[in-house]
Amino acid sequence: MKIYRAHNYQDMSRKAANILSAQIIIKPDCVLGLATGSSPIGIYDQLVEWYKKDDLDFSRVKTVNLDEYVGIDEDNPQSYHYFMKQNLFSRVNIDMKNVHIPEGTNPDMEGECLSYERAIESIGGIDMQLLGLGPNGHIGFNEPGECFTRKTHIVDLAESTIEANKRFFEDASQVPRQAITMGIGTIMKAKKILMVVDGEKKAKVLKEALTGEVTPKVPASILQLHPDFTLVADDEALKYMNV
Ligand code: GLP
Repeated sequence: MKIYRAHNYQDMSRKAANILSAQIIIKPDCVLGLATGSSPIGIYDQLVEWYKKDDLDFSRVKTVNLDEYVGIDEDNPQSYHYFMKQNLFSRVNIDMKNVHIPEGTNPDMEGECLSYERAIESIGGIDMQLLGLGPNGHIGFNEPGECFTRKTHIVDLAESTIEANKRFFEDASQVPRQAITMGIGTIMKAKKILMVVDGEKKAKVLKEALTGEVTPKVPASILQLHPDFTLVADDEALKYMNV
């Protein structure tokens, strides 16, 4: 496990964007696993800036997103499809044929889960997976539970997740109750994993995840077992860790 300390959100975003851009430079047709939420927005802004300066080329990059809400159309501003277009895809020269995000409105959800797994395999697996950390230790939408999930599946969102994500909606009642997410197994198969965490509110769960017992009750704790895991976190998030 490699841990890089950042002073603040902006510094964290720049450091993590450097790692992602190195991946794109080393392997221009790499498969990037991407995340949504507040944590990666600064990274995407930084990547866009470098793209505009002609320092980065996305034309051969392939992407797979971690998750999507169930029942929300991709043109809905609350969907993760929309988020990705707004924050990254519409701002760089990515070929939309190379973009993969689970379809939250597919009437055949089981089929969607299977075909998403197959799509990831058919493009050669994930070279680098970007992750945020949920306030309850979730990664993607893998909520705390009794066992680690293996593959892409449908989840019932935890109350704390609905509460945390309601800021993107009018109110909590508007937050979908289900999502489709890569499984823990899908995430762990990525060749490299890069997690970004900022803010004091995640300091306790971050410490628990990275120094506590490996348990499905804290899904991110599995990352301790990944052979190439990098964390970039700010001072506040690292408050309880001796690094
Ligand atoms: C959501 C997403 C996760 C994300 C997490 C943290 O639930 N499904 O992929 O990592 O929230 O979000 P934020 O970065 O906004 O704190």
